Amino acid sequence: MSITVVQEPEWERQVDTEPRPTRLLMCAPTQYALRYEINPWMVLENQPDLPLATRQWQELYRILTEQVGAQVELIEQAPEAPDMVFTANAGLVRGRYVLLANFRHPQRQVEEPHFRRWFEENGYHVQLLPVGCKFEGEGDALFVGDTLVAGYLKRSDICSHRHLSDYLAVPVLSLELVDDRWYHLDTCLFALSADTVVYYPGAFDAYARTVIQNHFETIEVCEEEALRFACNSVVIGNQVVMPAGCPRIASRLEARGYRVHSVDLSEFLKAGGAAKCLTLFLR
Ligand code: ARG
Repeated sequence: MSITVVQEPEWERQVDTEPRPTRLLMCAPTQYALRYEINPWMVLENQPDLPLATRQWQELYRILTEQVGAQVELIEQAPEAPDMVFTANAGLVRGRYVLLANFRHPQRQVEEPHFRRWFEENGYHVQLLPVGCKFEGEGDALFVGDTLVAGYLKRSDICSHRHLSDYLAVPVLSLELVDDRWYHLDTCLFALSADTVVYYPGAFDAYARTVIQNHFETIEVCEEEALRFACNSVVIGNQVVMPAGCPRIASRLEARGYRVHSVDLSEFLKAGGAAKCLTLFLR
């Protein structure tokens, strides 16, 4: 199969006259549950409390829309897709283009047609990867400035990185993930600004750690807070929306002038996700 390279990227042609709100895609947890175990956080005996999960998700939504000023689009959760709430995995969006996810596990592959339909109905050009090349969207690929940082091994295959680079015409830094508890890149690294990342070194192999340090200014998260998904944070301007229970990294970011919003997302941690996993940037 061939990849169509975006020749004249729409995002470069757009001239902003006034700042527009950041757009995000979210999915309310109407069908959320644990029905399988595909990462070490998921234990079938430890079921999420759905009413509590709903209140936690609504609080995240409220903070993002009312306090941070994001514009949130919604996709309806399909009954056969309990993990569809984690919209970060739907694909990677740039302008009106989206590289759709190729989920590793059959349990999540059922989400692909739903996300594809949403993107098509909302005017996106959908690009597919070769079937054998696994890619879990923004969960494993995020921009730090103009550089795409991409994780591989646990969920996404490294072959997806070449397609990302070709399709989006951007440089890609490939980072190997070595610990099953931090199985997506967005569980162990986030971009604080165009040149600074917050990350948990223990999730990466030695070479990846060197690559991160050579390319960016870095802020390290301790293991205790990395286990509470401190790195699964959403950054919009100078505001950071972070899972609760991470006071150390929160105060370091506040000391740099960031406004940190903490949200209790305990019911989503039971599936191995938190704030970032529950949102997808629609640039
Ligand atoms: N239970 C989901 C899975 O294992 C959680 C996905 C979390 N998403 C993320 N972007 N890290 O696939």
